[in-house]
Amino acid sequence: MGLLFPLALCALATSYSAAFPAQQTTKNLFPFLSRGCNDSDVLSFAGFALEDINKDRKDGYILSLNRVSDVREQRQDDEPGGSLFYLTLDVLETSSHVLSRKSWKDCEGWPFYATVYGQCKALFYINKPRRVLYTVAYNCTLRPVSQRSIQMTCPDCPGPLNIDGSDPKVLEAVTKSLAKYNKESTSKQYSFVEVTKVSGQWVVGPFYFVEYLIKETPQPCTKSMDSTCALQSPDPAPVGLCKGSLLEAEGQQTVDVNCDFFEPQDAAAEGEKAAKLPKVQDPGHKEAEAKKGPKGTVQTLPDLGHERPEQSPDPSPVEEFPVRLDLTTDPEGQALDVSFLFIGPLEEKLLVLPFPSKEQRSAECPGPARNANHLVLPP
Ligand SMILES: *[C@@H]1O[C@H](CO)[C@@H](O)[C@H](O)[C@H]1NC(C)=O
Ligand SMILES: *[C@@H]1O[C@H](CO)[C@@H](O)[C@H](O)[C@H]1NC(C)=O
Repeated sequence: MGLLFPLALCALATSYSAAFPAQQTTKNLFPFLSRGCNDSDVLSFAGFALEDINKDRKDGYILSLNRVSDVREQRQDDEPGGSLFYLTLDVLETSSHVLSRKSWKDCEGWPFYATVYGQCKALFYINKPRRVLYTVAYNCTLRPVSQRSIQMTCPDCPGPLNIDGSDPKVLEAVTKSLAKYNKESTSKQYSFVEVTKVSGQWVVGPFYFVEYLIKETPQPCTKSMDSTCALQSPDPAPVGLCKGSLLEAEGQQTVDVNCDFFEPQDAAAEGEKAAKLPKVQDPGHKEAEAKKGPKGTVQTLPDLGHERPEQSPDPSPVEEFPVRLDLTTDPEGQALDVSFLFIGPLEEKLLVLPFPSKEQRSAECPGPARNANHLVLPP
């Protein structure tokens, strides 16, 4: 007899959910709120998401926001004040390396002929009452600006060269420019880590431009500095970025070099964010989260190689900037544990839905672009 009561409850619960499926269905038909791509809060979330993306990366150059291409908000019913934003951002590569840890707002873009542009998708979680701003995941795709278009307006502009080291002149430009820097350096010596950018131009002869990361060359140990010797790491991190050039003309070589050193882990961007909305977060959990590795990738595809018409009549069948961000493909969504964002023993979960498709863009989107040249805007 004692068993019957819970069984009856169970049956009641089953028939209840069977009788009221409508509530769930309606919610999933319209799970997203349409938001304006020029709304000030959307722009600020897009800015924070991009800071997080840049901070998450280990190589490449810092990305800046050109415009918000699309945005959807999904209120989290279980967490009052919590919202998940599905952001599609059109971005421009800046000339600051991600290891400089600068804010994208303080970085300059490349000259027009060297522009690299693309699109990112990001999931950004905000909970104002509980003071949480968090980039859940991202993925970006970049391409250099079409060289064919550049050649038409600026045939003498420098063009990108292969970074893979197949050109011995590139290596020569690196070696000779770094040797020059080391010769002029009065204190430390530096060695080459990797090439990050290469371009070339014909002036009176071939002119090579290289950018590369450097690290400190370990000092040979002497008796008087035994203690500092022991402190030297066997695999030191890059400490700066050098821009070198090599010009060959009339049998003569001209080498130039200029190196910038990264600030030791600058807290400026973090500070700005914290000032606006101080994060209440368990530091232990934050560290554990950081150990999980990057929350997305940035892929660079080749130049599209053709001039895009001013206004293409029908969208091209090939997706020019494919960006997948499929945390789930289940139309009902998937729960994501974000307890580590909050202090306290409670378990906190987000409902993540499949990323909304391009076809259902918000009405007031895309927003205004900082650089509105159609050559650097993904379709
Ligand atoms: C991000 O993009 C990469 C490469 O395109 C892909 O393998 C990965 O699954 C994507 N991540 C998500 C969460 O969709
Ligand atoms: C975007 O918003 C800013 C500030 O609210 C406003 O000045 C500007 O005109 C808006 N731009 C567009 C294209 O709506």
